[in-house]
Amino acid sequence: MSGTMKALNAVKVDDMEAPPSTRVELVEKDIPQPGPGEVLIRVQASPCNPSDLMYLMGLYGIPPRYGMAAGFEGCGVVEKSGGGFFAGRMKGKRVAFVSAGQGDGCWAEYFVTSAKACMPVDAAIPAEQAATFIINPFTAFGLLDRAKALGTPAVIQNAAASQVGRLVIRIAKMRGIPVISTVRRQAQKDALEAIGAEHVLITTDADFDASLKSLAKQLKARVLFDSVSGKDTARVLMAMPGGSTAIVYGGLSVDRSDPYGGRYPLGALIFAGAKMEGFWLSQALPALGLWRILSRSREIQRLLKSGALETSIRSITAIEDYPAAMDAYAAEMSGGKVILKF
Ligand SMILES: NC(=O)c1ccc[n+]([C@@H]2O[C@H](COP(=O)([O-])OP(=O)(O)OC[C@H]3O[C@@H](n4cnc5c(N)ncnc54)[C@H](OP(=O)(O)O)[C@@H]3O)[C@@H](O)[C@H]2O)c1
Repeated sequence: MSGTMKALNAVKVDDMEAPPSTRVELVEKDIPQPGPGEVLIRVQASPCNPSDLMYLMGLYGIPPRYGMAAGFEGCGVVEKSGGGFFAGRMKGKRVAFVSAGQGDGCWAEYFVTSAKACMPVDAAIPAEQAATFIINPFTAFGLLDRAKALGTPAVIQNAAASQVGRLVIRIAKMRGIPVISTVRRQAQKDALEAIGAEHVLITTDADFDASLKSLAKQLKARVLFDSVSGKDTARVLMAMPGGSTAIVYGGLSVDRSDPYGGRYPLGALIFAGAKMEGFWLSQALPALGLWRILSRSREIQRLLKSGALETSIRSITAIEDYPAAMDAYAAEMSGGKVILKF
């Protein structure tokens, strides 16, 4: 496979308030070639996630590679193997994949990644669900596994109308774990209650802190899944029982001018004995090991096919039409994922 392809390259924009679509540009570039252990994938679909927006702003755990395609996950068909056992076995398969964080990302018609970063996906799963099948579902399961290891009877999660938040609600229900979800407006509460959420609190309500405190005490919720960070972490931790743990996995409210990502919840750490730890799928996934990854992949695919899990999709957009789609997603993320189609 040689020739050229369309791709969305990362562009350096210093204005932190600039719309996300200005941080990429549509280019024509050479189709990459796989090396040993790698595969060349004809990309079908790829979502725009908060991590993509943070990456393009230089606020993510991997420095932006300007002039190279952005995009961390997607699905497609393996066209070519660069050699090696795993890569050879993937040839011709439809796979979900994540980027290895080097070279070009997957917002392109063709993408090269390690064969070990690919998971074969059942043909019955539509492209938009296959494209969003690794990062958020594996994160939701990973967070709940960690909560179980910490021995909490219930969990709290903020920004719960996110796709991770909705997955946590659904998986926790299957496992019989009560979840207290916090959101920032009524429409988000309605959306979560429509999928079966039982305890949803709105952060702007006057009785929010008191309600959270009494519910956290009643349910013995000692773990927070925190994707907001900053003041929200401190506020929720102060309402939780002493010695609770915040698992910080996102920085949705991060101060864009602060490359170190904001402040610690000092009051909670000092006076409430709170603990904090991080979660990053880029580290948690390899730590699971190949066999547990494969069995979890089978479990998620089974749940997707049965309708027990799903990612809400706002739009499926041709790569050429990315600006309006990306900017609409960034303006109101609860509306579901924008899927770029190739
Ligand atoms: N650490 C990891 O390995 C890992 C893996 C996966 C995801 N994540 C993180 O998980 C989080 C959710 O990802 P996702 O793909 O599920 O998100 P998503 O579906 O795009 O939704 C984001 C949600 O966050 C809300 N939100 C945005 N800014 C907020 C703020 N400042 N305060 C409160 N709520 C805010 C949005 O509400 P609006 O509708 O009002 O915009 C929306 O409901 C992100 O932070 C992402 O980076 C981390």
